[in-house]
Amino acid sequence: MIGRLNHVAIAVPDLDAAIALYRDTLGATVGAPQDEPDHGVTVVFIELPNTKIELLYPLGENSPINGFLEKNPTGGIHHICYEVDDILAARDHLVASGARVLGGGQPKIGAHKKPVLFLHPKDFTGTLIELEQV
Ligand code: CO
Repeated sequence: MIGRLNHVAIAVPDLDAAIALYRDTLGATVGAPQDEPDHGVTVVFIELPNTKIELLYPLGENSPINGFLEKNPTGGIHHICYEVDDILAARDHLVASGARVLGGGQPKIGAHKKPVLFLHPKDFTGTLIELEQV
């Protein structure tokens, strides 16, 4: 059911420092920061030959990554995103398998303007999983 790894998202406490690290130290192609008010984050995309890295930085007081950064003050891997062909079919299969789909199971439009869903990390070996329909 899942296809390619679309991206790995890393929550960071200092966006400028993380941009400099990926652009200058690691030599990657780093995009411009984009505010995503619907998701409470500022996102920076880093294009790699085979996948993307998303840097996530809190936007607003109620950002969903504030709690993560409190627990992980130096930052850390927040979620990984797998591609699926049909997000509703994927959701139905997951729910039938007993997995918890966050947000009531209704896909939202993600940072790439495509439908996404998140799966409960406790059902997936401690990893928050995002599914993106491509
Ligand atoms: Co993501």
